[in-house]
Amino acid sequence: MAETILRLENIRKELGLSKAIRQTIIPNLSLVVNSGEFVAITGPSGSGKSTLLYLMGGLDKPTAGKVWLDGDEITEKNETEMNRIRNEKIGFIYQFHFLLPEFNAVENVSMPMMINGRRTRKEIRERAMKLLDMVDMQNKYTNKPSQLSGGQQQRVAIARALANAPKILLGDEPTGNLDSRSAKNVYQLFDRLNREQGQTVIVVTHDEEFANHAGRRIQLVDGKIESDRQLRVRVEQPA
Ligand SMILES: Nc1ncnc2c1ncn2[C@@H]1O[C@H](COP(=O)(O)OP(=O)(O)OP(=O)(O)O)[C@@H](O)[C@H]1O
Ligand SMILES: [Mg+2]
Repeated sequence: MAETILRLENIRKELGLSKAIRQTIIPNLSLVVNSGEFVAITGPSGSGKSTLLYLMGGLDKPTAGKVWLDGDEITEKNETEMNRIRNEKIGFIYQFHFLLPEFNAVENVSMPMMINGRRTRKEIRERAMKLLDMVDMQNKYTNKPSQLSGGQQQRVAIARALANAPKILLGDEPTGNLDSRSAKNVYQLFDRLNREQGQTVIVVTHDEEFANHAGRRIQLVDGKIESDRQLRVRVEQPA
């Protein structure tokens, strides 16, 4: 049986542009994502893709409706609880990597584990290196972000997002800033994580090839799900 990892129920998102003007970004959206799914979210600019992803990742709260992650209703959590849930259960990758410029690759990947405080320094360092090996960055441990290419920076950001073994990996156009070769490299990495480790992945993308490689494709128009198609069978979570 497929296990539900993320559930959105009757989500509404409004923005107050001024006291008098409110804009509805998402009128009423419900969605279930199972563990092990690889979901691509596509849609025109301004259709609410980033807004939706931020709601999924608890970076923003809906005006109405509920979001459950891993059985917990995250919409009712306060900021402190939400910070912990984000650190432990959600890996987020943005279009621009947001790596810390003064730290090298190993240190950047270590950061979420340091914040989490459940591993010793030695364990953190070893896991950071292991994650960098996995994203094929074994030769760049001590490089700072400025000493890496765009694709390499993004792979370090992916390793960092995976640091605490998140339940879901969320990406907001993670290949949007890359040339086509680096982009391919990055989405093959998402694909591998999904197929080999059963990692649940939800990615917003404009890249048609990327979207068609996903297991499921959701098209968003004006904050509404216009289509939701299964492209391939879900990868079973390894025991
Ligand atoms: N902080 C904000 N203030 C005002 N309007 C906003 C704000 N953030 C988003 N919006 C509006 O919400 C709508 C959805 O924005 P969102 O960023 O989710 O779209 P998107 O699908 O991610 O677009 P893109 O493909 O360009 O990234 C847009 O109409 C946008 O103008
Ligand atoms: Mg966006």
